[in-house]
Amino acid sequence: MTHPRLNYDKISSDYNQRYPSTFHWARGDALLELARHIDAKAVLEVGSGTGYWLNLLNQGTSQLYGLDFSAGMIAQAKNQSAPLKLTRGIATQLPFRAESFDLLYCVDAIHHFGDHVAFVNEAFRVLKPGGALAVIGHDPHSGDFNWYFYDYFDTVYETDLRRYPSSDGLKEMMNRTGFQNVERRNIEHVLSIHEGEKVLDDPFIKQNATSQLALLSRETYEAGIERIKADLKKDSRMVFKSDFWVRMVMGIKP
Ligand SMILES: C[S@@+](CC[C@H](N)C(=O)[O-])C[C@H]1O[C@@H](n2cnc3c(N)ncnc32)[C@H](O)[C@@H]1O
Repeated sequence: MTHPRLNYDKISSDYNQRYPSTFHWARGDALLELARHIDAKAVLEVGSGTGYWLNLLNQGTSQLYGLDFSAGMIAQAKNQSAPLKLTRGIATQLPFRAESFDLLYCVDAIHHFGDHVAFVNEAFRVLKPGGALAVIGHDPHSGDFNWYFYDYFDTVYETDLRRYPSSDGLKEMMNRTGFQNVERRNIEHVLSIHEGEKVLDDPFIKQNATSQLALLSRETYEAGIERIKADLKKDSRMVFKSDFWVRMVMGIKP
């Protein structure tokens, strides 16, 4: 049994700050388009967190299921306006019958599941024939990945390489499991550029805003912030970039 290393219960009440109402997410469009394309009726998000994406899918999809390890995140998801069926559980042992869902997806979560193969196998089991698995997230293994966190905070890059499957590796895993039409798409370009001291206002730089920084000890986190400040002393207009693609790897159960 795989346990997540980060306690999402502690950060659940602040988590929705990452979803300002004014922002339009291309990954939401990709999910909606996929759900419409396969005419998904029963949908499961694994690692559903506060239910943001499930709530978005509440347009033509009648059965919206969320599974998450964190009771705190599930409590937050209960506040969404869509009627969500929420279960506490782990991604590698899904508490659902075989052939239950038309669409199973996860967003920014597979790096917490530990055993990626076990998750893909479980997804295959609970999908109906013709159903789709979609894994959405970033891929630190890819050559075009540029995130200033990796330059300033010790161990974050190495930890991410261990936690995240590469999108090619994931495609291979899905093919081996029996999925067909497995493909990868770039669905959202994340580009945020912070100049000078404004980098310290990046909402993601707070220690609890991402698992990358939340997993660090206080000392390692502070050392990273000090390194940023030292560079700012040398060049007050220094540019800090987050520049990468969010990808969707998807396949169909025959
Ligand atoms: C970064 S959050 C993403 C939440 C949501 N998908 C979103 O995009 O807003 C990752 C979520 O995965 C959940 N999680 C971590 N490990 C898990 C596991 N082994 N099984 C199920 N959920 C897990 C966490 O509790 C957390 O809610």
